[in-house]
Amino acid sequence: MLDGKKVLFSGMQATGNLTLGNYLGALKNWVTIADEYETFYSVVDMHSITVRQDPAELRKRARTLLTLYIAAGLDPEKNCIYYQSHVTGHAELAWILNCFTYMGELNRMTQFKDKAAKHADNINAGLFTYPVLMAADILLYQSDVVPVGIDQMQHLELTRDIAQRFNGVYGDVFTIPEAYIGKVGAKVMSLQDPAKKMSKSDENPNGSIYLMDDPDTIIRKFKRAVTDSEACVRYCEEQPGIKNLIDIYCACTGKTPAETEREFDGKGYGDFKMAVGESVVSVLKPLQDRFAELSRDKAYLDSVIKNNAEKAQYFSNKTLRKVQKKVGFPERIR
Ligand code: TYM
Repeated sequence: MLDGKKVLFSGMQATGNLTLGNYLGALKNWVTIADEYETFYSVVDMHSITVRQDPAELRKRARTLLTLYIAAGLDPEKNCIYYQSHVTGHAELAWILNCFTYMGELNRMTQFKDKAAKHADNINAGLFTYPVLMAADILLYQSDVVPVGIDQMQHLELTRDIAQRFNGVYGDVFTIPEAYIGKVGAKVMSLQDPAKKMSKSDENPNGSIYLMDDPDTIIRKFKRAVTDSEACVRYCEEQPGIKNLIDIYCACTGKTPAETEREFDGKGYGDFKMAVGESVVSVLKPLQDRFAELSRDKAYLDSVIKNNAEKAQYFSNKTLRKVQKKVGFPERIR
């Protein structure tokens, strides 16, 4: 609890171009539930360097991402929006938590296995201990709730295990966080292969809708989306391509799958794909316009970056000092 409110933490990597999956699975929910919580939304740039990055590009993407958080509707006066690398406690707590995490646990992480396979020439220790840094992000603010897409569930379970283990030794130090998974959009699939999640790192750009795609590109990608052979708009496991499009349509319009089936009863895939594309444009266009407007105001963004980093540093220090004392680090002399 912070100022009588429960605490919410979440973050996104400033790597690659953000996709509709990131938006519907995470960012959109962040905005919907923000008012109920004391919130910390981080641009997790420290996580990004587990894979080699071009420094100038990483800096640019981090700023773009931070601006997108605001453009999506998060008021930086009310929500602490900041760069992870500006708050020292993330790395400091991660080190301590590393000493409470087992190799066997990290070896089981599916994201590590996937990334290690993709970057076989650079399987660094950071890639392996990445989930511990993520646990530190969350536990540093005594977070109650963590809104994420389904792909992050395994990391969240590990965070809970680490927190419980630590509390088991030292008493009630950490709040045990819960995942918040949205009802729709928790796993947006690729438009070209509905068995795969839509991903920033997909080599095929037609599989993903990027948040900065212009309306024509969005419509074209939906027209090309892989569908199924039943030729009717029905929400079922046997039609994974159509199911994914229905999910996207519902997430963008607020309609239910049953309403969508009725709306497109007797109509072909062509009409439906067009409608899905338009529903996505109607959500992304205002976001893009607001982003362009905000990007022009350098001084405003700089002040958000500075003030919120200070706020995050202040709150995170409280937990960090407590943890340092518990594990036996000498007290600071003032
Ligand atoms: P990242 O940057 O890969 O993704 C950011 C958020 O987007 C969600 N997401 C999706 N949701 C639905 N469908 C998809 N296709 C899809 N793709 C991505 C992710 O679940 C995530 O919520 N390790 C994290 C970043 C992180 C973090 C944290 C998150 C670091 N520390 C602490 C929460 C709390 C990651 O790589 O997310």
